[in-house]
Amino acid sequence: MPTATQLPPGPRYPVALSTLGWGLRPMPFMERCRRRYGDMFTFRILQEGSWVFVSHPDQVKQVFTGDPNVLHAGAANHILLPIVGRHSVLLLDEREHMTQRKLLLPPFHGERMQRYGELMTEVAEREIASWPQGAGIALWPRMQSVTLEVIMRAVFGIRDADRLDELRGRLSTMLDWTLDPRQMLFYAALGPQRVQEKAAFRRTMDPVDEILLDEVRRRREDPAVDERDDILSLLVQARHEDGRPMGDRELRDELMTMLVAGHETTATSLAWALERLMRHPEMLDRLREEVATGEDAYLDAVVRETLRLRPVLPIVLRKLQQPMEIGGYLLPAGVSVAPCIHLVHRRADIYPEPRRFRPERFLEQAPGTYTWIPFGGGVRRCLGASFALFEMKTVLAAVIRRARLRPSDPAPERVTRRAITLTPGDGARTIVDAVEPVSARAELAGTAS
Ligand code: HEM
Repeated sequence: MPTATQLPPGPRYPVALSTLGWGLRPMPFMERCRRRYGDMFTFRILQEGSWVFVSHPDQVKQVFTGDPNVLHAGAANHILLPIVGRHSVLLLDEREHMTQRKLLLPPFHGERMQRYGELMTEVAEREIASWPQGAGIALWPRMQSVTLEVIMRAVFGIRDADRLDELRGRLSTMLDWTLDPRQMLFYAALGPQRVQEKAAFRRTMDPVDEILLDEVRRRREDPAVDERDDILSLLVQARHEDGRPMGDRELRDELMTMLVAGHETTATSLAWALERLMRHPEMLDRLREEVATGEDAYLDAVVRETLRLRPVLPIVLRKLQQPMEIGGYLLPAGVSVAPCIHLVHRRADIYPEPRRFRPERFLEQAPGTYTWIPFGGGVRRCLGASFALFEMKTVLAAVIRRARLRPSDPAPERVTRRAITLTPGDGARTIVDAVEPVSARAELAGTAS
């Protein structure tokens, strides 16, 4: 056990250069660092200090099973404060985090997800029916509109069409505003605390909050709330350990957290799955046959392989509150440790031919807790992982059943960073050769029965 604190080696560039490398070309940058310095390396990021990357499963395990009082994740998400609010589970640490997480976990239990299947299929089918046949479209924004709709209905529980229209408009304005690179600069300059008080920010956020807080109120007053399945209805009935219900702002903050954490991540993963599948027609055929029989082992493998090869988030972060030994280094307090999803997923000793899209590997080997980590791990593991996996499978199955797609360009799309997610560079462009109308399918089903 080392007695003096020390950082693993890493590039000696000026901090501005390593920030640029990380910001503009994160994947080559991380890969170069690993080739040069090994499984653990350090670089510095402007305003953030030192980040220690770990990419060996034993090191990842140390981080994910380490003491949450030492390994803080909330601090690393502080930039999200103006959007998700101070009660958000994403921003909390230690005891506060665990009590909030306990409240949020039951509605996301794996088995409960089945109940959203019909809704997810309906939303996906309506979207697919609007695709122009014979024309080129980008699938990524189409998938965003599917995942937004699913969150508004399954998580927020909104059913009324006019209200859905209204919220959709307000959310789109808010999301466009917050993801606009100019606003990001504004954000970085002011810091999260001050941004949330600025008039320009409030003008985009207040109209959204107004609807969400109104939904919270309506749900509290609904005498039939216990018959509802949506996540807000379950949370309105949840109780803290001392018997208190969640407060209005607390509920609003968690709803916004689920939107921010679950909308773009799931949409981007779906877009990547289709981007990869379209370039492997034999896989599409296999999937189509399987989906027709109602089986889902290959579908599951496709989803897992997509999240392995194209994880939307390349790292997760934990800020050390005390020195901690990881991988033979005693790391000093104050540095952030980054289990690197991208590098772990590209290890040839775990995934032979790591750059190849090969879903079969997950038919041969189950995903490991510390080797397949698109949802992070330990007490911070993504709360919506079951929801996202189920949604991906349901939406993909609908697309495979209903649409015939081919890539606009046979070359793979580049991985491009947008805000914090890694997205398909051309938006997963496709040519829609055919869309099977719902009625034709219903007739077919009728004939079959
Ligand atoms: C493919 C889609 C998704 C991916 C790749 C993803 C990935 C992640 C990752 C990497 C983390 C951080 C884990 C860590 O620090 O160890 C996280 C946290 C979280 N995610 Fe997801 N996520 C997805 C979908 C969703 C959905 C659909 C929801 C909810 C509706 C959701 C809710 C959350 C929440 C609440 C947290 C914070 C957990 C905590 O701090 O305790 N995510 N997600």
